[in-house]
Amino acid sequence: MRKPMIAGNWKMHLTRKEAGELASAIKKGLDPDLKHEVLLAPSFTNLETVKNIIFDSKILLSAQNMCWEEKGAFTGEVSPLQLKDIGCDYVIIGHSERRKIFGETDETLNKKIKSALKNNLKVIFCIGETLEERENNQTYRVLQTQIQNGLKEISKEDLSAIVIAYEPVWAIGTGKTATPDQAEDAHIFVRKEISRLYDTNTSENIRILYGGSVKAENIDELMAKPNIDGALVGGESLKADKFLRVIHYQKVLSK
Ligand code: PGA
Repeated sequence: MRKPMIAGNWKMHLTRKEAGELASAIKKGLDPDLKHEVLLAPSFTNLETVKNIIFDSKILLSAQNMCWEEKGAFTGEVSPLQLKDIGCDYVIIGHSERRKIFGETDETLNKKIKSALKNNLKVIFCIGETLEERENNQTYRVLQTQIQNGLKEISKEDLSAIVIAYEPVWAIGTGKTATPDQAEDAHIFVRKEISRLYDTNTSENIRILYGGSVKAENIDELMAKPNIDGALVGGESLKADKFLRVIHYQKVLSK
């Protein structure tokens, strides 16, 4: 059975004080019996502050990006060794903002994933199509290419340390969520693709999160879908009460 995960991507928001307050409020509001995983991804500068708050809780820590090199002359970059040292469990790789604004390619993302795994960091690997691609019926082709290239030469064993996040670019930060059926369709496609590249067992076990305008108001219907294993949440994860509602989603239908 796949363990659901609710992840908060705080993007380039919050000072240390604000990040500390938000992490404390989320930790305080967590149901102690919660069975699924909760993860926070603050900016690099806030990782240590957040770690110092969540260290004695079940909340996991993630960075939002990293360099594929372990050390060296890479001005402005942060390495997997440094992320491990500060206590990160996960790193987000391939967020559409990294792909689009900072020109990250499938090839560099593949290098980052390999480097993260080598350094015992788990990975949230983001994929997703743009509006134009969806309108041109290219969604599946785009997802297929991103998966094939991003996961190139990654073994079946290593895949257990990877969570895939399906984030249609047109739904990120726009208030336009994919409908639960659209998200479920894409997740089914991703699972089939993993099955084709690996095997059925691996595809049944990999967790696939949905991301893109996930809110307190729509999380329940998304989580009701059998192939949606959690959410990667941006804007809504910056408000403690709303994010806590997302974390404590109600299962509308049994999985
Ligand atoms: P959003 O962002 O929830 O604000 O749409 C999601 C993401 O970018 O991961």
